[in-house]
Amino acid sequence: MKVLILFGPPGSGKGTQANKILEKYPSCIYISTGDILRENIKQNTNLGKLAQNYIFQGLLVPDEVINSMIENKIKNINDNIDFLILDGYPRSTNQLEFLLNLIPYKSIKVIYLKIDLKDVINRIVYRRVCPKCNKIYHLIYNKPQSNETCDNCNTKLIQREDDKEEIVTNRYKVYLNQTLPILNKIKQMDIKFLEIPADKDINEIFNNINEFIKN
Ligand code: AP5
Repeated sequence: MKVLILFGPPGSGKGTQANKILEKYPSCIYISTGDILRENIKQNTNLGKLAQNYIFQGLLVPDEVINSMIENKIKNINDNIDFLILDGYPRSTNQLEFLLNLIPYKSIKVIYLKIDLKDVINRIVYRRVCPKCNKIYHLIYNKPQSNETCDNCNTKLIQREDDKEEIVTNRYKVYLNQTLPILNKIKQMDIKFLEIPADKDINEIFNNINEFIKN
């Protein structure tokens, strides 16, 4: 199975680009660890109860919880799919090592969406999401057609609980300390890798990603 990892700090556009990839390649499978955790919080499951303690402080949920969640998802995927998109995983050295035991590194491509903290805050503070279909908007750059309701399903848009400025700043610090270091490991291996400045236009970024997927 081929795997495309969307890597980058909070607000770099991983979810936005994943949705564009899915529009273009509807037969690929998309796993967002953040979406799965938020769905569990909404359903008040044991995983959700555990995860919210970490998410609402901007901390990573423990590796063993996330790794077993990913393993369960991956083992149920049919090998015939185009490719699997991973958004928000791996996010620590331990998670990268775990993934490399499940998927051979030659089947993996990594896209790194690079962006600074000031742009991250601006992106996230104005982000709104649809609680029903998970479509992502920005009140300035990527507006819904009518005021704060989803274009797809007309549901009222919400702001994520962890999108408050102080939590975002913490998420960015956690990203620098625990997630960014795995990029060096990825670069040292023979894994196909593309770095994209994430402050470009959404469609321009997608065109770069699409070329990378095809080659
Ligand atoms: P998660 O949901 O994965 O959040 P994240 O990685 O912090 O990323 P975001 O969803 O905030 O941003 P994004 O990069 O998807 O950007 P988006 O496309 O929305 O994780 C949340 C929490 O869950 C973590 O903090 C952690 O606690 C836990 N967790 C998740 N995975 C875990 C793991 N593996 N291990 C441990 N814990 C884990 O875009 C942002 C905004 O910008 C939007 O408004 C969008 O419209 C706009 N935008 C996007 N692109 C552009 C552009 N090019 N120009 C202008 N605006 C743009």
